Amino acid sequence: MSKMWAGRASGVTDAAADDFNSSLRVDSRMYAQDIRGSIAHAGMLGRKGIISKEDSETIIKTLGEILDDLKSGKLTFEAGGEDVHMFVEAALTERIGDVGRRLHTARSRNDQVALDVRLYLRDESMSMIERLRELLLTLTDLAEEHRGVIMPGYTHLQRAQPITFGHHLMAYAMMLMRDVERIIDAVTRMNYSPLGACALAGTTYPTDRGDVAAALGFDGVVQNSLDAVSDRDFCLELASAFSICMMHLSRLSEELILWSSWEFRFIELSDAYSTGSSIMPQKKNPDMAELIRGKTGRVYGNMTALFTLMKGLPLAYNKDMQEDKEAIFDSVDTLAACLEIMTPMLKTMRVRSEVMRDAAAKGFINATDVADYLVKKGMPFRTAYKITGQLVARCIADASELESLPLAVYREYSEIFEGDLYDEIRLETCVARRTSEGGTSPDSVLAQVAYVREFLKDV
Ligand code: ARG
Repeated sequence: MSKMWAGRASGVTDAAADDFNSSLRVDSRMYAQDIRGSIAHAGMLGRKGIISKEDSETIIKTLGEILDDLKSGKLTFEAGGEDVHMFVEAALTERIGDVGRRLHTARSRNDQVALDVRLYLRDESMSMIERLRELLLTLTDLAEEHRGVIMPGYTHLQRAQPITFGHHLMAYAMMLMRDVERIIDAVTRMNYSPLGACALAGTTYPTDRGDVAAALGFDGVVQNSLDAVSDRDFCLELASAFSICMMHLSRLSEELILWSSWEFRFIELSDAYSTGSSIMPQKKNPDMAELIRGKTGRVYGNMTALFTLMKGLPLAYNKDMQEDKEAIFDSVDTLAACLEIMTPMLKTMRVRSEVMRDAAAKGFINATDVADYLVKKGMPFRTAYKITGQLVARCIADASELESLPLAVYREYSEIFEGDLYDEIRLETCVARRTSEGGTSPDSVLAQVAYVREFLKDV
């Protein structure tokens, strides 16, 4: 088949080469953005008298029809083509002949593809922020509801200090809030139009790049035409932001997997988000959480692919860059799918508050509070730390707990201990007292919930 670009080259290529060269399978999803960009370009060409007003209007009207036909499925990509840009231009020319052939004046596929990817990723970033908002709202609701639920807090996966489940959930909310900020930040830097850079050097036509940029909602134009067609920083930034977000989802997934194990039993995932085993009838597996954890690897892989793709490319456009889309689109799809599973999985999980509370009651999780009790009554912290350690050793020897050790025993170690100790080391007291900013007390959790909800108002 002869190509639209047949000129010096005959345009007659080997079928396997055609197939190898084609990106339509991957970039056809940008058809709406491609047409939006072409409509803005055609409008500018008409306004600047580069093509006639009538031609500009015919092109715009026909592009609108092509968009409708693609949306409704009346026009499909089955016929194939080199890429989405060629496909749309071919459809246009088929419908309006020579008038359609005027659209590509003062433009190249190099600036066109850079534009389409920016438009597409801007749209997808907005949808991603909406998905993150849903997850954040779910986390804040759950945290508010469970602000008084006591669970063991861990370091080194060893019981450390009692915390509230609400507090634990809000830690993830803070991470995801930063993810939203990172995406917004990337979009802010990405929101400049490369169109008008043409192949690499700009053009001799009296174009108005600002006009096109404004029509497409950009904050301005990319200032250097070589940079405009060679830059894929915005892909790298989003791929990185999405990787960090996946890492957060993966850590949360890991905890959901642990917590739903028979060893922990802190939560039970809804049947709707669990699977059974084909052989072991007792099993209920947290497959969704495991898949989120697993898919994090491919999102990291996409990021690495993009960085590697770009590192050795001379200016300006190189065909290697066609490979950018498969990687970044896969990251978009994967993160979107993971967010859409995570939110309802959290909403429907059962929280076993009693099991969490029981787990916190074991393991001398309030030992820090015993030491703090002594410190508040005047003892230097290091001395208090040592005495408490000895008390813990005593409990282990007696198979007892700090809460139930008799006062007489406490007083063998220090005369400072009095009857008020028991109230001080109740888990509820330990938690409620941690009112420092960002701490685990129910009040502090409520403050964190308010902070995130306030943030979401402006997003
Ligand atoms: N399909 C190409 C890509 O995705 C479009 C740009 C092609 N430009 C060119 N001069 N061959 O990168």
